[in-house]
Parts: sequence; structure tokens; C-alpha cells
Amino acid sequence: MASLTVRQLDERIKKRLRLRAARNGRSVEDEVRTILREAAEPSGNEAAEPPAPPSATSARRAHPAPAAGVKRVLLIVGGGIAAYKSLDLIRRLKERGLAVRCILTKAAEHFVTPLSAGAIVGERVFTDLFDAASEFDVGHIRLARDADLIVVAPATADLMAKMAGGHADDLATAVLLATNAKILLAPAMNPRMWSHKATQRNLAQLAADGVALVGPNEGEMAEAGERGLGRMAEPLEIAAAVERLLAGAVQTLKGKRVLITSGPTHEPIDPVRYIANRSSGKQGHAIAAAASAAGAEVVLVSGPVNLPDPHGVSVVHVETARDMLQAVERALPADVAIFAAAVADWRVANAGEQKIKKKPGQRTPDLPLIENPDILATIAQRKAQRPELVIGFAAETENVAANAKDKLARKGCDWILANDVSPQTGIMGGDRNTIQLVTAAGIEAWPPQSKEDVAAMLIARIADRINGDKA
Ligand code: CTP
Repeated sequence: MASLTVRQLDERIKKRLRLRAARNGRSVEDEVRTILREAAEPSGNEAAEPPAPPSATSARRAHPAPAAGVKRVLLIVGGGIAAYKSLDLIRRLKERGLAVRCILTKAAEHFVTPLSAGAIVGERVFTDLFDAASEFDVGHIRLARDADLIVVAPATADLMAKMAGGHADDLATAVLLATNAKILLAPAMNPRMWSHKATQRNLAQLAADGVALVGPNEGEMAEAGERGLGRMAEPLEIAAAVERLLAGAVQTLKGKRVLITSGPTHEPIDPVRYIANRSSGKQGHAIAAAASAAGAEVVLVSGPVNLPDPHGVSVVHVETARDMLQAVERALPADVAIFAAAVADWRVANAGEQKIKKKPGQRTPDLPLIENPDILATIAQRKAQRPELVIGFAAETENVAANAKDKLARKGCDWILANDVSPQTGIMGGDRNTIQLVTAAGIEAWPPQSKEDVAAMLIARIADRINGDKA
């Protein structure tokens, strides 16, 4: 049989092939196999041959697989002044025993050269979706699939917009679209670009898609005299976030049952009106997702929120504080219980069975309040079936640490995550959080970070504690 290699095809056809392969999420070789199989297939009902496995021989030739157990990180460097820090990041990741591969976007090449990045990585870096050498050697699909984690640092506004829109018109975006691996973004841009509605919209989409975030931090910008939120997180911070995400992937909570409350509660005034609060449920839901990613069996008892149920989590939807307590008690026993819900402290004592009507000339209705059960305190003070670790939140608007210490003692829980929910912090309903962890041992200030990163940090701490390290 005559032999034909893709390399021999004319440039125009090769280009179309590569585009088709990128769109279909296959390597060029697999795309050609698919086309040939479809062309050769009889039109009747005969079963198609199973697809051939992607060729790995050439990939092994130039890029030996890391030793068993070594985690693989693919670093995508976007085009921004912070790209110079990515060289240090490569070093930090390698210091942690990780196998690192690197893609530079076209814009990144204005800031760092493939040669300098390649020298630190210790192998050739990848730059072009249409580069015959890399496509036939490794291929964008293999780059996407071989990674345990993909880090985009710096993640520019443009790269984030392309990701949010599902574009795949260069190597970096094609790999990001073709991967099943967890993605960590380290955004870096001018503060005005960061706060622009379009960027925030894209960010919300990426968070909903399960993309993790580290930074950006507040500080001086490259542009003289500018400061604000938009500096890329420091390489050490990014490396720590990488370790946390990879630790999640190693199932640190396998075999453990974790119970979480999230969101607000709605307390009826009558059948159409209720008392509520501004909680979005983002933090509690992020904790549920992180616990599930760490291998725990998770029950999430959620008040009314506008969030999808986290993947792999068993969710019980409730409305009122009393329903929430009942659902929590039903979900016991659990190894760990985390109370992130903003439970309404009071409910209306005489909630109307019918809609309360305005009557001309009559007084406004009296709505006497009675106290709701304290779910956290009830579970923390149980004699039977008390979870090994009971964690509460403290939503405060003043004297955050002092009030949280007081709550820890009063409610009888083991840890409190205290946060300042004054309107100017943007924490209630927002995407970021600044936590002080209050334990019997003292108070620990965590850096400002996304709610997903708070969740990952909390899950790592829980795993340390219940797997033996009692710190
Ligand atoms: N909590 C609870 N049940 C309640 C009230 C609060 O389980 N009825 C839990 C929350 O989920 C959180 C912790 O208790 O983990 C603290 O909640 P927070 O609203 O900060 O405190 P409160 O107990 O409501 O006290 P205060 O409103 O006086 O600050």
C-alpha cells in the first residue's frame, strides 16, 4: 500500500486540517484517521471500527513522561509585563518536584523569549498551533491531556475573554478548550481593565466553569503612578495555589463525610413576603465543591441561592432556618460540619397564612419576631454524633476578631472563619473574601483571595487536622 504522511500534503490542506482538528479537539493525526475512517465506512448499518488511540510514540521521543507520581503542570504565559515573573514561577514549580511544560502566547513572546523560558523549563517551549514540529511531535491535544493542572500566568484580560467565550484560535486557547484538567488563572492587568464590566463578566463565567483564581493583588502598576487591584500574584503565592489544587486532586478527604450549610434562609411573613439577607451562597458552595474535589462525600444543605448545585455533591434545598436544622440533623453523622449559611436569626412569630392586606386607615401590621434555632451551636453542643470538627463562620461589621473569638466560645465550635461583611468590603455577595481563622490556638490572617481559594485553603487545613496533623 502506498504510504502518505501528513507532512507531504500541501500547506493549504495542512492548515485546514489543523483547524479542523483544533475544532474537534483531536490531534492532526487523529483527525486524519477519523476522516479516512468516515470515508472508508460503508453506508449501511455496519458498526464502525473503534477509534484508533492517539499516537504517543513521537511525543515520548522528544518529551519523556515524568516519573510515576510526579504531577505535571502546563504553564501558559500570556502577554503582559508580569510575564517576567513567570520565569521565576517555573523555578518555584520545579523546586516543588513538579514536571513543568510551557506555552508562550504570541503576545508573551514580546516579554519573554522561548529560549529563556525553555532554558528554565529544561525543554522546548510551545508557541504555535500551526507549528508542524510541535503539532506532530506532541500536539495540542496531548499538551492538554498530559497536564494535571494548567496555570495561566499572567492571565491577561484578552486571554480571559477568549477563554470565557470558548475561542480556540491559537495554541494556548486551543489547549485550554481541549483540556479536562483543572485550570488556575493568575490575572494581571491594569486596575481599570480588571474592574471593567466585561472582565468581571468573563471572570464570573470562568468561575462558573470551575476555573480557579489566584490574585490579582493590590499594588503599584507598571504604568507610572498607577496603583490598584491588578498586579499578578507573586510566584510563591501561585506555587502555593498550585500545591493546594494538586493536593485536592490527591483526594485528601477520601472516605470522609462532610456536611456544609450555605446561602441565606427565607423566613416567611406571609405566603408572598419574607425576611432574608444578602448572602449569595458562593462561599459555602465553593467549600462544597472543594471538599468533593478532595474526595469527600458531601451533603450541602442550601438556602435559596442563584447558583447551580456543585458537581458530585448531594444537595438538600431548604427555605427556613427550621428546615435547615432538620436537614442538617438528618444528614448526620458526619466527620466534619461547616456552617457557612447566613441563617436568619429571627422569624416572624405570627406569619400570616394569607397575604397580609393593607386596609385604609389601619395601622401597619405588627410583626413580632422570635429567635430561630442556632444550627451551629446545636450541632457543636451535641452529646451524640457531634462531628469531629465543627466549623462556623462569623459575619461581622465591627470588632471582627474579638466578636469571632467570643462566638467560638459561645457556640462551642472548633474553628471560626471570621470575615468583615460591611458593605464597603464587597464580601457579602461578592467573589472574594478575607478570612481570619480563629481557633483555640489563636488568630491567623489569611490573604485576600477568591472564595474558591478560601475554600481550597480551608479544605487543606481540614485534611491536615483530621488526617493526623493536629496543628
Ligand atoms: N448560625 C447558625 N444558625 C443560626 C445563626 C447562625 O447555624 N441561627 C451559624 C452561621 O452559619 C455561622 C455562625 O453561626 O457559622 C455565626 O453566624 P453569624 O451570623 O456571624 O452570627 P450570629 O450567631 O447570627 O450572631 P450575630 O448575628 O449576633 O453576629
